[in-house]
Amino acid sequence: MVDIAEVRLAIVGCGAIADWHVTAIAAAAPRTQIVACVDPDAARAATFAARTGGVACASLADAVAQGANTAAIMVPHHLHEQLALEAFAAGLHVLLEKPMATTPDACERILAAAPTDRVFMLAENAQYWPEVLLVRQLIADGAIGEIVTARAWHCFPPMGDFYEGADPWRMSLIAAGGGIALDAGSHWLRPLRMWCGEIIEVVAATGHPFPGMQGESMCRALCRFESGVVASFDALLVPGAVSNLPLFQITGTTGEIVIEGIGRVRHFDGADHRGTVVGQGNYLQSYEGEWADFEAAILDGRPLAADARFALGELYGALAMYRSAETRRWERVWA
Ligand SMILES: NC(=O)c1ccc[n+]([C@@H]2O[C@H](COP(=O)([O-])OP(=O)(O)OC[C@H]3O[C@@H](n4cnc5c(N)ncnc54)[C@H](O)[C@@H]3O)[C@@H](O)[C@H]2O)c1
Repeated sequence: MVDIAEVRLAIVGCGAIADWHVTAIAAAAPRTQIVACVDPDAARAATFAARTGGVACASLADAVAQGANTAAIMVPHHLHEQLALEAFAAGLHVLLEKPMATTPDACERILAAAPTDRVFMLAENAQYWPEVLLVRQLIADGAIGEIVTARAWHCFPPMGDFYEGADPWRMSLIAAGGGIALDAGSHWLRPLRMWCGEIIEVVAATGHPFPGMQGESMCRALCRFESGVVASFDALLVPGAVSNLPLFQITGTTGEIVIEGIGRVRHFDGADHRGTVVGQGNYLQSYEGEWADFEAAILDGRPLAADARFALGELYGALAMYRSAETRRWERVWA
């Protein structure tokens, strides 16, 4: 149901990722006006208000009083459910950062509470990652034949913005709900699912190379897909320097595609051992695609590229990896 002419947005949580979202909104969502910047940390709310023209608010209720019709919720994971339910109850369209929540039960409560006449996007930006979309098209066009296997490699030192805040909630298992597989790992699991289909079972080992982080900072897993394809998924946060290995490698019956760390997509078809560069993307553009999609869903009634429930696949995949690390066996992703 399209009943508004402009997205009047409340930024809820003025932290690290909100900064990237505000940049993307300016670039890709011209019909979105930021009217409120909500954060219990008044200085953060004020900084975002000064930058965006919104009003600094201490609560979501204050943002509604400022005329917000939409909320972008970007807070620590253990607060997702409470704020999503509050936003739904206020009749807002909602963009909720990943993961939906930290437990399947909380996710089901959120999905059940989402009004059918409002847009609810679970913000998984990898759905809009240009390199990932190009690879999906290449696979559909038969560029590598049938997929034989794939490899996803997420290995970075902790980025300051995300790990050095006043409230380092990512270091807490209760606040984060898990470690790197559940957090940034979702951006590497979504592409695997877009290319290979649904993950049905996983086997994993975890470790703690990043000091002070209660959740795992290393997760090495194999994922078996409905199709029978098996892919590897590695998510590591390491304290030292790392090389610039490809982020993804997709091997098919007739060729291979690699997404390099700098966003270059290379296709190998046997003609040239160096492969052929077929595209150059940029991770940050994924947030622009996300906002363009969210805005069009609200104002034009267009379906989202992926519905919110689809995002349970990354969360359930990570939770199954955690079970597998305990049992040392393959674990089913879906109950
Ligand atoms: N899509 C991505 O690439 C990506 C990247 C990083 C983080 N995230 C997600 O974004 C969310 C936030 O992560 P972050 O790194 O920005 O965290 P952050 O700690 O930098 O920011 C969170 C902000 O929420 C505020 N906050 C706490 N309680 C609040 C409340 N009740 N109402 C409003 N604000 C409140 C905090 O004061 C803080 O400013 C998480 O869900 C995280 O997984 C997504």
